[in-house]
Order: sequence, then C-alpha cells, then structure tokens
Amino acid sequence: MVVHLITNASVLDSPGKFQASVYIIHSLGAALPLIEWVFIFIPIIFHGVVGLFLIAEMAPNNAAYNYNGNFRYTMQRITGLIAFAFIAWHIFHMHGWFHAEWWAATVSGPLGGANFHPYNAASSASEAMRHPLAIVIYVIGVLACVYHLANGIWSMGVTWGWWTTPRSMRRAVVGCAVFGVLLAVVSMGAVWGMVTVDLDDARAVENRMLEARIEDGMITEHEAEEKRAPLAPQNRDRAATEAEPAAQEF
Ligand code: HEM
Repeated sequence: MVVHLITNASVLDSPGKFQASVYIIHSLGAALPLIEWVFIFIPIIFHGVVGLFLIAEMAPNNAAYNYNGNFRYTMQRITGLIAFAFIAWHIFHMHGWFHAEWWAATVSGPLGGANFHPYNAASSASEAMRHPLAIVIYVIGVLACVYHLANGIWSMGVTWGWWTTPRSMRRAVVGCAVFGVLLAVVSMGAVWGMVTVDLDDARAVENRMLEARIEDGMITEHEAEEKRAPLAPQNRDRAATEAEPAAQEF
C-alpha cells in the first residue's frame, strides 16, 4: 500500500512520471495477473474474511471505559470494514477484477468498472476519479486504509512482542502515528494529483510515450490497443477516415 500510494503520488510530479512507473509494473507482462492474485488479491481477501470474523466477535466498551486504547480498538474495526468495502470497490472501479472479454462486456463495462487503461495511466485514472462522489469515496476510503495500516502495525507489534513495556508501547504509538500522518499526506497528495491532472496534456504525453515504445518494438500494436484508453466517439469517426494512426488526437 505504501509503494502503491507513493507511485500514485508521483503524478504530482507529472503524468509522464506516473506513466513511467506503470510501464515498469506492466513490463511483467503475462505474469502480472498471477502476481496480482498471489501477492495482492488472495492475501487481501484472506485478511478481509478473517477480519470480518474478528469484527463479528468484537466487544466494544468505549461507553463504559473511555480510554484511548479502547477508542483505537473500535476504530481499527470500523476502518477495517470501510477499507474492505473501499478496496473491493476500488479494484472494480480501476481494474475491473477480471480482464476476460466476456466479463468486461457483461459486468465491469456496464457497471462502470475497469476504468484504468495502463497505457493512458494518469488520464484514465483521473477521468475515473473526477466525479465529486468518487472523490469523497476516495478520501474516506484511503484515509480509512491509512489509519487501519498505521494502527494495525502498532497492534501487530504488541501481538508479536515487539513492544512489551508500557513505555515502549507509548513510544510505538508515537512512531505509528507519525508514519500514519506522513502516509495520509502522501495519499491525499495522490488523490489531489489525480483529480487535477490536465487531461489533454496527459493524453498527449502518454500517447507520445506509447508511440515511442511501439516504434522500438517494446510494445506490439495489439497490446497497445488492449491497454490504451478507447478513442472518444467524436474522434473515432475522424480516426477511421485518417490514413496515419499516429496523427490521431484524443
Ligand atoms: C490515492 C488513492 C489511490 C489511487 C489514485 C489508486 C490508483 C489505482 C489504480 C490506477 C489502480 C489500477 C492498477 C492496474 O490495474 O494496473 C489501482 C489498483 C489497486 N489499488 Fe489503488 N489507488 C489508490 C489507493 C489505494 C489504497 C488506499 C489501497 C489499499 C490497499 C489500494 C489498493 C489497490 C489494489 C489492491 C489494486 C489492484 C492491484 C492491481 O491491479 O494490480 N489503492 N489503484
């Protein structure tokens, strides 16, 4: 999550910088879906399902004992629920969950998912996030994830015996809080950077980067077609009548 948020925040530097990072990730090619499922989706599903069982057994006592630790116990569970729902929605919104054509045609496309196009990375992510409701969901969802991670590291340290004395626990609270605040700043920078992308500039840079890679033979025309954003309808008609594909405007 830390790497993901820092990568996303690189859009603040420029859409080209973000695009360059996405090219590195997508250079994994056919291995990417396997890596996504083994190292990202299955662990998140596992963590989420175990978490739901823990929440079902929770016994909050904030009303009777208004301690800081009790507040964090309850917040950890509330943010866990929000984070689980957010991550499920977010992966659908950007990635679509599955890449199969029938899935895209019947489920993720019609339901407004799979908006991220890796070869038009910043512009497609930005277009997907511009709606006011999407921005609100992103801000709440991302901050819930950040809190859940920072406070979760603290409780993991208690469980695993990293901090055992009251003094070391207090110091760990401060360390985890500083980490959480820094990550919250990075994450809000990422949201801000995405929604304020200049779409025309970003599309132009992304398309130049893609054309260069096609020319170098690093990306095939077929792969480019699969992973670039579709042409806007008004440009589709014009592109069909133009002989030179490189002259297409987006
Ligand atoms: C600033 C907010 C965020 C932005 C702009 C953002 C952007 C994106 C984008 C563009 C993708 C699609 C990547 C692809 O399909 O290749 C993605 C996927 C994903 N995001 Fe985020 N994300 C954000 C926050 C988060 C947070 C807080 C989490 C929590 C863990 C998260 C977890 C994931 C996961 C698990 C995937 C699927 C991984 C994959 O497709 O390989 N994201 N995100």
